[in-house]
Amino acid sequence: MALDKDFLWGGALAAHQFEGGVLDTSKGYSVADVMTAGAHGVPRVITDQIDPDKYYPNHVGIDFYHRYKEDVAMMADMGFKCFRTSIAWSRIFPNGDEAEPNEEGLQFYDDLFDELLSYGIEPVITLSHFEMPYHLAKEYGGFMNRKTIDFFLNFAEACFKRYKNKVKYWMTFNEINNQMNFKNDIFGWTNSGAHFGNYENPEEAMYQCGHYELVASAKAVALGHSINPDFQIGNMIAMVPIYPFSCRPSDMVLAQQQMHDRWFFCDVQVRGHYPRYALKNFERKNFNLDITEQDIEDLKNGTVDYIGFSYYMTNTVDSTVHRDTSTVTDGSSEHSVANPFIEVSDWGWAIDPEGLRYALSEFYERYEKPLFIVENGFGAIDVKEDDGSVHDPYRIEYLRKHIEQMKLAVEEDGVELMGYTPWGCIDCVSFTTGEMKKRYGFVYVDRNNDGSGTLERSKKDSYDWYKKVVASNGEEL
Ligand code: BG6
Repeated sequence: MALDKDFLWGGALAAHQFEGGVLDTSKGYSVADVMTAGAHGVPRVITDQIDPDKYYPNHVGIDFYHRYKEDVAMMADMGFKCFRTSIAWSRIFPNGDEAEPNEEGLQFYDDLFDELLSYGIEPVITLSHFEMPYHLAKEYGGFMNRKTIDFFLNFAEACFKRYKNKVKYWMTFNEINNQMNFKNDIFGWTNSGAHFGNYENPEEAMYQCGHYELVASAKAVALGHSINPDFQIGNMIAMVPIYPFSCRPSDMVLAQQQMHDRWFFCDVQVRGHYPRYALKNFERKNFNLDITEQDIEDLKNGTVDYIGFSYYMTNTVDSTVHRDTSTVTDGSSEHSVANPFIEVSDWGWAIDPEGLRYALSEFYERYEKPLFIVENGFGAIDVKEDDGSVHDPYRIEYLRKHIEQMKLAVEEDGVELMGYTPWGCIDCVSFTTGEMKKRYGFVYVDRNNDGSGTLERSKKDSYDWYKKVVASNGEEL
């Protein structure tokens, strides 16, 4: 048995991390555009407006906006069947609350999609990948405000209508469940344009915001299907499976409870209603959430067609441990400990290929919906040699082992899997740290943490390796 012949091999990126074209186009600032660069252990700062004395790595990204033809040609050369990216919301609605979309922004994606389609590469599009217009965050409080549901729907409608015949695969919100860590500001800000820490009860604020976003997602799914019934519209979940540290019963139960942080948004988006563990949590904590009868109806009518998810690592919890999580960006919790059986990357992310098989089976057995691995990869420091070559055997090894486990999930466990798009297929700005040196690509980009570099592209060893993987439909690893 092998992978389906239509399996969507490709790569993934997100507008704010690679497009650039922020300062010299009609694009408005997004929430990502006011984030400075940090480093491992040094958080990115979210500034109020743009501070001319600070460096914002996303403003130039890797300048895909001006170089997309060259980059798409490399994707085609690697044999990509699909390319996952996002539409920068603030390119289409620079402030977010305009009545009409911005033609220059719409035209850019028309040109990009035409370029992809000319090579037979299917665009896989995330509507909102940490790119809410800054104005909506600043003036309306982002998704803390019910009005933002309509702003998002205007954006979704403009995209669905314009690209109706060019894009079939959509996702609503990238890693919508990141904000379950409501203690680290980066997640509420990038998911929802909100600072949960400014509210009296940050957890309650997160659930309110999450609710409006879930309604927006469900209404977008229904709207998309009414515009083109052939659209496949999914959600997108950050899946960091949680293992119990030991077979101590309290570790088992803790791991199960903490998995609610992974499942909550997905449960609503797939099943169309709130899970009872969440309702009990609201009741126990006396949360006073604005959830209307109409919202409940809307959630029911907008369930997703497939589940997109990212997988980078697993996490292990010990019920006897308590730690602070306000700066963590690795999916860990107050009970997390190192897993003695697993190595970690230079950024402390656990390397666990078998965890991908585990995640796929958990998802599939819970929902019985088609799955799409829309992010997976190894962020590492690459060195470009004098002759221009980049030797990245560690990346090949990481991806090979993950693909092996992915195939086991399909071939032995019967998981329905639509495709695999490794993250950062061309080097881009890291989301959590804003660095360039945390590289994921098959293509090296000459750009450094401080913004220096020629932006020139070159192939890494993993480029030809992945090309072979795609050509053999995953047989030659
Ligand atoms: C996911 C995001 O969290 O992980 C991407 O969807 C992000 O936007 C990716 O880039 C890897 O994270 P990082 O911080 O290594 O770039």
